[in-house]
Parts: sequence; C-alpha cells; structure tokens
Amino acid sequence: MGNIPTTVKHCLSYEQLIQGYPWLGSRLQEEKCTLTREYPEYVKIIEVGPRDGLQNEKEMVPTRVKIQLINMLSETGLPVIEATSFVSSKWVPQMADHTEVLQAIHRSSHARYPVLTPNMHGFQDAVAAGATEVAVFGSASETFSQKNINCSIDDSMLRFEEVICTAKQQQIPVRGYVSCALGCPYEGPIEPTKVAEVVKRLYELGCYEVSLGDTIGVGTPGSMAKMLHYVMKEVPSSALAVHCHDTYGQALANILTALQMGICAVDSSVAGLGGCPYAQGASGNVSTEDVLYMLHGMGIKTGVDLSKVIEAGDFICKALKRKTNSKVAQARSKSS
Ligand code: HMG
Ligand code: MG
Repeated sequence: MGNIPTTVKHCLSYEQLIQGYPWLGSRLQEEKCTLTREYPEYVKIIEVGPRDGLQNEKEMVPTRVKIQLINMLSETGLPVIEATSFVSSKWVPQMADHTEVLQAIHRSSHARYPVLTPNMHGFQDAVAAGATEVAVFGSASETFSQKNINCSIDDSMLRFEEVICTAKQQQIPVRGYVSCALGCPYEGPIEPTKVAEVVKRLYELGCYEVSLGDTIGVGTPGSMAKMLHYVMKEVPSSALAVHCHDTYGQALANILTALQMGICAVDSSVAGLGGCPYAQGASGNVSTEDVLYMLHGMGIKTGVDLSKVIEAGDFICKALKRKTNSKVAQARSKSS
C-alpha cells in the first residue's frame, strides 16, 4: 500500500477506496474489519461481578453480602447478572454457597441470572437450585482447559454437548465462554484460527451467545480486531460478546474495537472486581461503571443506571475493605 497517498487513506471510506483502486480489494479484505463502522444503538451489558468478580477472593465473602450485591445490581436495570457457579467447592471454595445465593436473591423480572455449569453434575445442581439459564466455559488453549476444568478441549466439548442437549430439552438457554481468546497464561499467544474453531464448536452445539474471554487481559485493539476477524467468519457478531480483563489497561479500547466491528454484548464487573484462580496475575474485569460511562457518553443505550451501579460497587468495596478499580467511581467519589 506504499503507493497510496496518506490523504487518500485517511479521507476515503472503504467503499470509495475500493472504487478508485479495484485491485486493492483482496489486499484490504483483512483490514476492512478494522475500519470504523457505525456503533450499535444499544449494547447489552452482562454483569459478571458476583461470579467472576468474587470467585478469586481469598477470604470467604459472606453469603448475605453476595445476595445483597446481586439485589442491588438487580435495581440498576442490568439485563443479565451472572449470579454464581456450580463448580467443585474443592476447586473454587468461594462459590460453594451457590445454591443459597441463587435461592435467596430477589430476581427482577427484567433481568436474567445465568450460572456457570462445567458439566452435568453442575447443571443438575443448578437446575435443582432454580437456575433458568446456564453457561458452559471452554478454552482456546489446551493447557488452560486442563488447568481450569481438568480435561482436554475435545473432552470439554463432549461434556458441554450433554449439558446443552439436556438444557435444550428443558428450554434452558445456554451461553458459552471461550477463555484465552487473546492469550494464555501457560501457552502465550493463541492463534485466532484456534479461537474461531472453538467458538464455532460451541455455537454449533447450541450456545445462543459465545463470550470471548481475554482471561489475562493481554489483548490490544490490534489483536482483538484480528481475532474477531477470524471468529466472525464462523459465527455472526449477533451471537458474540467480549469479556475483557483489564490487566494491561487495554480493556476499554478493546471493547471499543469490538463495538466498531459489530459486537453489541459486553461482559463487565462492578468495581472492576475479578480474576481467575487458574490465571495467576490476571487482574479484574473491566469495570461496569467505566463501560457504562463510555457507552452513555457515545450516546449508546444500555438501560442501566450508572449511579446505582456505583452504589453497588461502593457496597461491595466496603464489604471487601477494598478500593474500587473503577476510574469513574473514583472520580465520582472525589467530586461528591
Ligand atoms: P474434576 O475433579 O475433573 O471432576 O472437576 P470429576 O468429574 O473427576 O469429579 C471429581 C469430584 O468432583 C467428584 O466428587 C465429583 O462429584 C465432583 P468426589 O467423588 O471426589 O467427592 N464434581 C463436582 N462437584 C461440584 N460441582 C461440580 C462437579 N463436577 C464434579 N460441577 C470440574 C471438574 C470442572 C468440576 C473442576 O475442574 C472445577 O470445578 N473447576 C473449576 C473451574 C472454575 O470455576 N474456574 C473459574 C471459572 S472460569 C473463568 O473464570 C473464565 C471466564 O471468566 C472467562 C475468561 O475470563 O476467560 C469464564
Ligand atoms: Mg473472566
């Protein structure tokens, strides 16, 4: 592309550029996804704080605190609140009170409350506890799959197939996760084609939406765009979400990149809580407050009340004796 004057590259739309330079079509195909498109009018926020945010806490968070946090989040207008996970309490002790939590929360008629279920054991316990939506969680990294759920990617798909088929019979929607979509704590960079393959498998098994996890928060807008380019060849953007941890401070930029490429579902965590027990050094998820502030500032609707999310963040940070990771909440507390 060395022959194209800089002004042309910056002023013309993709379509105009292709008109003037038809021979460029194939060379620019991969870049097309990175050119700015219109943003969505509405973005669905999936709040993962009560699960992803708390699962890695060393001190046991009292069950009543988890319940109050979810109840406060339910008052904010959030459409989806991931409540807990039905995993082994030997592996993740913090989620051992899953049944109590799920049964005690006041469910808003406007929100859904999915829970993580890695296998049939977890699925059956979740349904018995009253779950009406579940999520399976796989990985694009073989090593992470072994460390996180104690089986290979292929074996995890067999487990998920059973969960998804049974859920379908009971009309329970299943969401999917693919961890390590932008890098693995054990294997380093992951090929976007591998990510696309695992996402496709989950989608074809019947997940209505697959969330792309930057588990250790190493992605940049460059790697996000590249990964999405390959994933979106296999699965429509309407069935994808992004799940960004903010270890390297790139999460908002990565989300913006995803929105430009047509994604309109974003996972986030109140007060930026979080981390994964099997991803040493990974910091919290992008904070819900900061995502909302950015989206609302762009005129994008979410249906979520930012001030109420800040209150919920304040509540959980006081309970954990912790400062919030949300820049927006920090700024608001200084100005009030
Ligand atoms: P396993 O040990 O391989 O399971 O665990 P198993 O089938 O060999 O069974 C061993 C024992 O576990 C048996 O009990 C089973 O009954 C029990 P025993 O006979 O020894 O007394 N068991 C269970 N108990 C409770 N709930 C269950 C369950 N299944 C078996 N569902 C398992 C497999 C997946 C359960 C285990 O590896 C586990 O719990 N892993 C924890 C995974 C986890 O929660 N990771 C964090 C969430 S993922 C994440 O954070 C990433 C994400 O946010 C996206 C991103 O950021 O990338 C989603
Ligand atoms: Mg996560």
